Amino acid sequence: QALRDLLQRMPKAELHIHIEGSLEPELIFALAERNQVKLDYPSVEALRRAYAFTDLQSFLDIYYAGASVLLKEQDFYDMTWAYLQKARQDNVRHAEIFFDPQTHTDRGVPFEIAINGIHRALQDARAQWGMSGGLIMCFLRHLSEEDAFKTLEQAMPHLDKIIGVGLDSSERGHPPEKFARVFARCGELGLHRVAHAGEEGPPEYIRNALDILKVERIDHGVRCLEDPALTERLAREGMPLTVCPLSNIKLRVFDRNADHNLRALLDAGLAATVNSDDPAYFGGYMNDNFIAMFEALPLERRHAWQLARNSFVAAFLDEDKKKAFV
Ligand code: HPA
Ligand code: ZN
Repeated sequence: QALRDLLQRMPKAELHIHIEGSLEPELIFALAERNQVKLDYPSVEALRRAYAFTDLQSFLDIYYAGASVLLKEQDFYDMTWAYLQKARQDNVRHAEIFFDPQTHTDRGVPFEIAINGIHRALQDARAQWGMSGGLIMCFLRHLSEEDAFKTLEQAMPHLDKIIGVGLDSSERGHPPEKFARVFARCGELGLHRVAHAGEEGPPEYIRNALDILKVERIDHGVRCLEDPALTERLAREGMPLTVCPLSNIKLRVFDRNADHNLRALLDAGLAATVNSDDPAYFGGYMNDNFIAMFEALPLERRHAWQLARNSFVAAFLDEDKKKAFV
């Protein structure tokens, strides 16, 4: 109980949250009604029952369907505000939020509608609660690099609202090197770079994300332990891994909470952090992820502090601001 209390109360940063994955079924139905969008599911319960995933792709199909109710700037604001309230309850003091512009622009929703709604919610959280945050634009890796370049073009007038770029969606068959040129361009523009790698994909994808995309963090990265030389390198470089425990269980990367490798990652000296990924779909927000791991694995107070500290060290915050937390 004392440990649970610590997990709840300790200040933390969330670095791996897809804002479209925070859309709860209730909000999906409310927005569908508000926008006159027809859903394939008759009820909130029926939609929730469909959240029985077997792998990443089976999740992505439902996640993109859920996002179809987002049409107006206010919809993006409401979604983001709902997430930020949950994060605040979990004592998240800093949140770096992913969004997938192509999921919206490909449906005819303008880029600025999505980004302005999300950004306004982040501004309100800063003004009202002092919660800091940033927005990371993800390219969908199942689409082409040319499409990613078009998205970057649309982002150009909004670069003041974006701290970095990421790479998400279907990993297998879409290796990091597919996006070498667009990531190089983003680097020239002064954007931070991260990429999903080693969730379902092999350790080689982690290595290529580092060497070719020049990323500063690896999202997931849990499969690195299959490659001892890579593990050693990640530890030596202090490369942060944004691990998402409940996501890994729901997408069958590991069978049960007790099988998760979070403790092994820490024991290997890796800069692991805990995050929620798509909390509305995977059964929990930040603290649910912490509690699930601390109940299932031999993790102690020192690990809790380490994970919280890692999250601020890995954050794209000024060194001054970091010092206030670590
Ligand atoms: N992996 C890849 N793409 C995603 C995820 C994820 O966990 N969540 C939303 N898009
Ligand atoms: Zn993710």
